[in-house]
Amino acid sequence: MKTAQAGILAAIPSHARYLTFALKQGARPQSELKFLAAIADGKACVVGVGALLAFALQKEIGGLKPFPHYRGHGVEVPSTPAALWCWLRGEDRGEIVLRAHAIEKLLAPAFEVSGSIDAFKYDRGLDLTGYEDGTENPKGKKAVAAAIVNDKRPGLGGASFVAVQQWVHDLDRFAAMPHKQQDDTIGRRKRDNKELGSAPASAHVKRTAQESFTPEALVWRRSMPWADAKQAGLMFVAFGKSLDAFDVQLKRMAGAEDGTVDALFTFTRPVTGAYYWCPPMRGRRLDLRAIGL
Ligand code: HEM
Repeated sequence: MKTAQAGILAAIPSHARYLTFALKQGARPQSELKFLAAIADGKACVVGVGALLAFALQKEIGGLKPFPHYRGHGVEVPSTPAALWCWLRGEDRGEIVLRAHAIEKLLAPAFEVSGSIDAFKYDRGLDLTGYEDGTENPKGKKAVAAAIVNDKRPGLGGASFVAVQQWVHDLDRFAAMPHKQQDDTIGRRKRDNKELGSAPASAHVKRTAQESFTPEALVWRRSMPWADAKQAGLMFVAFGKSLDAFDVQLKRMAGAEDGTVDALFTFTRPVTGAYYWCPPMRGRRLDLRAIGL
C-alpha cells in the first residue's frame, strides 16, 4: 500500500522508542503538527493521533474510539489515552535517542512527553519468555488488507489504527512454572513453536485465535520487548484497518466474554492501553487533511 506509513508493514527493527505526548493546557498544536508532518517519514518514525488530539482540533476520525477499561475476574486492563504517539524505529540506539530529543523539542510548545519506553528486538523476534511472537500474523496481501484502511477519500485511504499496551512481566513467576505449564499458558511449545491442540481454553492462542471470531479478527502485530533498570515486558502493538478485531480479542482475553481469563495474566499485566489513528503519507509528508491540516 503506497500511501501507508512504511514502518507499519516493515520488519521489526533492532531498536525502538515509544513516545507519548499530552497536549499542554490551552495549546494550539497546529504548527507543531505541521512540523512533525514534515519530518516524520512514516518509516523511521510512525505517528499516531489520539482521539483527544482530534477532539482538540474539532475533528472526528470515524472508527477512533476510547480504549476499553476492564476490571473483573481478578484482572485489570487499564485505559490510558494520550494525544499523540510516535514509534521511533531504527538499527542504532544512539540515533534514536537523538531523534527522540529533536521531536520532543519541536513539539514542546504544544505537547509534553507523557511516556518514553525503549524497546528492542530479542533474538529472531521473541518475547522475553522465549516464545516466538508474530507467527500467526497474516502474510503478504492479507497483511495489507488487515492493517491498512482501504478508502478512496483523500486523507483516509492508507491510514491505519493501532492499539498499544505496555505489559509488565513477572519473569521470576514465569521461570518458576514447569515447562508444560508455560506451554499451556501460551498454547504453543517453546522448543519448536508448535501449536498445542490439547492446550486449555485459557491458553493465549486459544483465547485470541483469529479465525475463531465472526467475522475473522485479523490483526497485524508488531510488538517488541521493552526493559528499563527495574522492569521488563512486552510493548504490545497491533495495527488494524479498524479497531474491531483487537477489541474483540481483548474482551475475550479479559474474561468479559465468557468468564475465562487469558492465562497470560498469571505472569504479566497491562499498565497502559491506548488507541491511535495513524495517518497516511502524501509524498514524503504525513497526510493530516483528515484532522484539518
Ligand atoms: C504480554 C502480552 C502478550 C504476549 C507475551 C503475547 C505473546 C503471544 C505469542 C507467543 C503468540 C503465539 C505466536 C504468534 O502467533 O504470534 C501470540 C499470538 C497471538 N496474540 Fe499475543 N501476546 C500478548 C498480548 C496479546 C494481546 C493483548 C492481544 C490482543 C488483544 C494478542 C493477540 C494475539 C493474536 C491475535 C495471536 C495469534 C492467534 C492466532 O490466530 O493463532 N496478544 N501472542
